[in-house]
Amino acid sequence: MKKTIAVLQGDGVGKEVTAGAVNVLKVIADRFDHEFHFEYGLIGGEAIDQQGVPLPDETITLCKNSDAILLGAVGGEKWNSIPRHLRPEQGLLKIRKELDVYANLRPVTVQGALADSSPLKREYVEGVDCMIVRELTGGLYFGRPSERVERDGEEAVVDTLFYKRSEIERILRSAFEMAQKRNGRVTSVDKANVLESSRLWREVAEEVAKDYEDVKLEHMLVDAAAMQLIRNPKHFDVLVTENLFGDILSDEASMLAGSLGMLPSASLSSDGASIYEPVHGSAPDIAGQNKANPIAAILSAAMLLRHSFDLHQEADKIEDAVESVLAQGYRTSDIADGEESVSTDKMVEVIIEAIQAPVAN
Ligand code: NAD
Ligand code: IPM
Ligand code: MN
Repeated sequence: MKKTIAVLQGDGVGKEVTAGAVNVLKVIADRFDHEFHFEYGLIGGEAIDQQGVPLPDETITLCKNSDAILLGAVGGEKWNSIPRHLRPEQGLLKIRKELDVYANLRPVTVQGALADSSPLKREYVEGVDCMIVRELTGGLYFGRPSERVERDGEEAVVDTLFYKRSEIERILRSAFEMAQKRNGRVTSVDKANVLESSRLWREVAEEVAKDYEDVKLEHMLVDAAAMQLIRNPKHFDVLVTENLFGDILSDEASMLAGSLGMLPSASLSSDGASIYEPVHGSAPDIAGQNKANPIAAILSAAMLLRHSFDLHQEADKIEDAVESVLAQGYRTSDIADGEESVSTDKMVEVIIEAIQAPVAN
């Protein structure tokens, strides 16, 4: 198979972990006889430094002409006080919107070897297998107006939570379809006791559910869902929610898996190229130290193979390799519980070795 993959490394640890994921994909290409071409593009702070904008037009063109996009992370202290439209994060939001990647899949699975790395007790997290389906191109992130205003003679501010029915419907359909391939349960998370947007969300969920009789739908308020994720995380199969709620709940859920450095994601469009990125950010506190956990990025590369190229055996190979190095005891510092840890590069190296190891008969 011949494919072009756009690589947007971004800032901070985004660069370090994406480099690892690219190396893993190169080894997969080699082993399974594929041709992957990697084309690099600028995004985030680095793009601001070099071209004055967080998402240059060439990057958009590159992504639109690619078969899939592997993204690192954007942002950092250096760009925190510049005008909002020029912030690195705007580059990320813009590429999501340009490519219409509305369905952000954030699988939360707990590796058996890491069940003791979570701050929660082993019996709560062992066997957790939940798919967070986060709406990614609407809601508060993109609502207009979003600005400073003057009200009653003082400074005030407005952000707008806006959704079209069609936008709500398509993300719910993604969730129901996902549940059909999994354990047949959808938890739709909202704040319908307060927000009109959530009341429409609930209405649409009920309607969509009629087309999926094999799937069981429940509604849960977001505050209760945040609590349930800790009290009984195994309750969840597919959890679908709007943009901001999904952002918050997925970082929370990462602690079930032991670290934010473990959680991959896929941002899918209905047609066109999709984006694959770790859930974590640029981690300025550990950037440049060869310390970041590359597993979230590497598992995102596995999701790329699975969802964009239908290469299931290859994706399995990566996931098995990750599982096996964790079982062998390799840990980056975020999952090492203060015990001995390995660098980013070393973790990538042992994962690659596990991919290359001859298959036992
Ligand atoms: P963060 O996700 O970058 O880091 C939160 C904490 O998790 C930090 O302590 C960090 O060291 C740790 N962490 C994150 N990834 C890790 C990894 N791979 N291995 C080990 N530890 C890891 O969130 P933040 O500190 O709130 O934000 C930093 C910057 O990143 C901000 O500018 C923010 O806007 C940006 N951000 C970008 C993305 C993205 O590009 N997708 C996502 C989240 C945050
Ligand atoms: C994420 C990040 C982004 C988001 C930020 C950096 C805009 O936190 O991918 O989860 O909120 O979507
Ligand atoms: Mn986030």
